[in-house]
Amino acid sequence: MERNTCMILALDVTDREEALKIAEDVWEFVDAIKVGYPLVLATGLDIIRELAEFAPIIADFKVADIPNTNRLICDQVFEAGADAIIVQGFTGRDSLDACIEIASEYRKDVFVVSEMSHPGGAEFLQPAAEAIAKIALEAGAFGLVAPATRPERVKKIRKIIGDKLTIISPGVGAQGGKASDVIAAGADWVIVGRSIYKAESPKEAACEIAEEIRAELCGE
Ligand code: XMP
Repeated sequence: MERNTCMILALDVTDREEALKIAEDVWEFVDAIKVGYPLVLATGLDIIRELAEFAPIIADFKVADIPNTNRLICDQVFEAGADAIIVQGFTGRDSLDACIEIASEYRKDVFVVSEMSHPGGAEFLQPAAEAIAKIALEAGAFGLVAPATRPERVKKIRKIIGDKLTIISPGVGAQGGKASDVIAAGADWVIVGRSIYKAESPKEAACEIAEEIRAELCGE
C-alpha cells in the first residue's frame, strides 16, 4: 500500500450507490478504502471489486477464529479482490499464521489488531496489546491497528515494533482522535469513517483532514 495522503477511508455506509458515490468523491484524498461488515453484509462481497476501481481495499473483518476457519475466510476475501485484511491477534500465533500464510499466497497484506480504539478496548485488549504486537512482528504481518483515541499507546507500540511494521489508526474525528496527533505519535495512516462519510461534503471533509496530515508531516 502506497503512503501518500496517509489516510484510509472507513466506508461504513450500507447502500451500494452511496458507497460508490463517496468513493468517487474522495479517492484522491485517501490511500485505501476500508470496508467491513456493515457495507459487505448490506451489499454483498462484490462491492470489494467495485470499490477497488478507486483505491486499494482493506477488508476489516477482524478475523478471530481457529486456523482452518481463518484460512477459509482469508481465501474468500482475497479471492473477492481485497488487498489487505484486518485480523485479531488475541486468538494466538497459530490463527495469525494461518491468515499470513494465505495472504502471502495471494501476495496481499495482513493487519493485526493490537488494541481497539473505543473505551472498552482498554478493558481486555490493552493489557495484551504489546504481546500481540510482538507476535505480529514475528509472524510477518504487514501492520498493526492501534488506537487514534490514545496517541500515547500508538507511540508505545511504535517503540516496540520500530519501523518493521506499519500502523493504521482508527478513532479520528467521531471517536475524538486528532489526525495530526496520531501521525505525530507514529501512525503511518489514520482511518476516518463518519467524519467523512457523514459530512455534508465528504470531499471537503477528506480534503481538510488530508491537509492537516500534510501540514503535520511538513512540520508546518
Ligand atoms: P469512525 O466512524 O469512528 O470509524 O471514524 C472507524 C472505523 O474503524 C473501525 N475501527 C476499528 N478497527 N480496530 C479495528 O480493526 C479498532 O480498534 C477499531 N476502532 C474502530 C470501525 O469499525 C470503523 O469502521
